[in-house]
Parts: sequence; C-alpha cells; structure tokens
Amino acid sequence: MGWKTLDDMDLDGKVVLTRVDINVPVENGKVTDATRIERILPTLRDILSKGGKPVLLAHFGRPKGKPVPEMSLRVVLPALEEALGRPVAFAGDCIGEAAAEAIGDLPAGGVLLLENTRFHKEEETNDPDFAGALAANGDVYCNDAFSAAHRAHASTEGIAHLMPSCVGRLMQEELTALEKALGKPERPVMAVVGGAKVSTKLELLGNLIDRVDSIVIGGGMANTFLAAQGLEVGKSLCEHDMTGTAREILAKAGDGGCTILLPVDVVVAREFKAGAAHEIVPASACPADAMILDAGPATIARIAAAFGEARTLVWNGPLGAFEIAPFNAATDAAARQAASLTRAGRLLSVAGGGDTVAALNASGSAEAFSYVSTAGGAFLEWLEGKTLPGVAALDQG
Ligand code: 3PG
Ligand code: MG
Repeated sequence: MGWKTLDDMDLDGKVVLTRVDINVPVENGKVTDATRIERILPTLRDILSKGGKPVLLAHFGRPKGKPVPEMSLRVVLPALEEALGRPVAFAGDCIGEAAAEAIGDLPAGGVLLLENTRFHKEEETNDPDFAGALAANGDVYCNDAFSAAHRAHASTEGIAHLMPSCVGRLMQEELTALEKALGKPERPVMAVVGGAKVSTKLELLGNLIDRVDSIVIGGGMANTFLAAQGLEVGKSLCEHDMTGTAREILAKAGDGGCTILLPVDVVVAREFKAGAAHEIVPASACPADAMILDAGPATIARIAAAFGEARTLVWNGPLGAFEIAPFNAATDAAARQAASLTRAGRLLSVAGGGDTVAALNASGSAEAFSYVSTAGGAFLEWLEGKTLPGVAALDQG
C-alpha cells in the first residue's frame, strides 16, 4: 500500500491528531446513519491501545468558513460516545486556546473531538498558518478520512507536511480494497456506472474504458447513450447535448476492446412517482409521452450473465430510479446477483458512492459485498484515476 500505518508509529503518550470523516446525516438533532462513525472505531481503539490520545479533526456540512451553530460537531458527540462506549471530550474550536486547554485536560485513555474545521475559512484555502495552528496541537497526524481525501484542505493535506503522518485503519482498508479492484485486479473486471448524468461521469468512463473489460451503463445516463444511437427516449431524463460525447465514448470503448452494456429493454411510466403505472418495452420503443425509469428484465438477465463471467466488479451509481418502487428492480436484482456471486467466492465486489450504498443497503446486499466504501466524491475521483491530495501528502512507509 506504500504509506506508513499506525503499526509504524510510536504513539505512547502522544497526542494523535486524527482526521476523521464524521460528516454523517442528521435529522432533528439525531444521527440517522452512524456508518462513518462506526468505521473509524478501529483507528481510535488502536491509537488508545498504543497509549496515544486521539484528538479528532473533522468537518461537518459546508459552513463556508464561519461558525454556523447548526453545523457544530456537538450534534455528533452522543453518537460517537455511544459507538465508542466511553465519554468523548469536546472543544469549541479546532485551534487556539480552547483546543490547547482541552488537550491539556485530556487524561490518558481520553478522546477529544475538536469543533468543525470548516468554521475557519483557512481550512478550505489550505492556509499554511492555519495548518500550522492545527499541527501545534499534537505530535503525530493520522488521516483516517479517505472520504474527504479528494479535498486539499488544511486538515486533510497541509497538516500532513508539518508532522510525522500515517494512514488510519479505515483509510488503509479503503486503499487496499480499491487497489485490489482496479490496481491489480483479477480479470475479467467489470464496472457498473449509473446515475443521472453522463456529464458528471465523463472522466470516470474515460478512465474505466482503459482499465476494465466491460461497463454496464445504467440510470438516467443510459438514456443519453440510447439517444446517441438514434433511439427515441420520449420524456426521459436525457442530456441531448451530450450525445456526441456519448458516441465518442462508445467508439473509444470499441477501439480499446471494452464492452459497453446498454439497456436492451426498459421500464417506462408516464409519471415519476412510487407505484406509477408502468410497462416494459424494448429500448428502441419508448413511447413519446413516457419516460424510462429502470432497465427491463432482459437487460437484468444480460447483466447477471456478465457478472457470472467477471472476477472483479466495481460499482458506482444505480441502474434506475431506485428511490421509488418498483423502479428499483434492476438495481436490486443486479445487487443481489453480485452479492450471491461474492458469497460464493466467485467475485470480488467493491462499491462506493452515497446513492449506490443506499441502494445496496435497501436491497440487503451491502453486507455481502467484498468492500463498501464510505466515500462518495473521493471514490469517484479515485475511479477517475486522480491522485487524492489527502492521501498523497502522507508519509510513505
Ligand atoms: C462527504 O460527505 O462526501 C465528505 O465528507 C466530503 O464532504 P464535502 O463534499 O462537503 O467536501
Ligand atoms: Mg508528511
């Protein structure tokens, strides 16, 4: 993997500035999905067991460089304490006296959470003085926020240059899983790319075409590819100005020997609502007054057959309007198929992205996947082949 890990660090008696991503969903003052909190526990426990004091650096929401009470990390504290099974101290600022005092008061075995780093505008500008003020609080920097590693911010990038640094356990796990899936994968490698718009996935498709043997294209963006082939898509979500680009992607894939799987049949409806009357038609026969909301059964069968041939699968984006039944059918069926092949030891399956993880959870397949990333944007940028600044800045082992 290349980077120093917690195993390489002497943490006894040290204050370990630990960048975590606990940017979790909150409704009415309560955390509604604690996954990201649970996933940092191995790091916190390992730091504690090595005699270190974890002092957590994190952002929450997008307060745009000033204190916003609704974006205080205090709201996450009870869920963090519950997950960790011990009290967690809190400091009202991530730099300066408030932070220094709270760190000074922290007993051995204590954990401290510092207030939202994005309350300072210097966080997002990666200001060197601000990074210095963060670094002044501790002895070692541990980055466990893979899902924020695509941001070159002071607490994710700048600070890493100022003190000894290492990856946390979650970051280590993410990097290892992604390397297995795209770095040196077992072939054939397949990708599922879904979501609403081709325009947001262009770089992703461009990179994947060179690396994988086949790509299933689903969701709204598949409609653009159908339109690019001259098919009518009626009132479907479709970026008509992207059809030229879609044709270029198909041509590049053809030249590079990457098979693109597009829907051969589709589920259409006249209304975008749960339980709307719907029918299955060939992909070439979308009625003018209807919209495509999911892939049909013949497409699902083709995807399942392709999964059966693959050894490695990378998944980002749903195949249909998965938030509303029954237009989750293709996503669910494909997810269950990938889960069952993974359980049988025939497939290494890696998925990431907020919608994707929600869809896998809804279909009950997430558990069976080889790896489900906590990252959205960072997972996407990694699949695009980009260097993540928060990873690149860390010390090599
Ligand atoms: C996320 O929730 O994906 C990360 O915490 C990054 O958040 P951001 O998109 O606001 O930088
Ligand atoms: Mg460094």
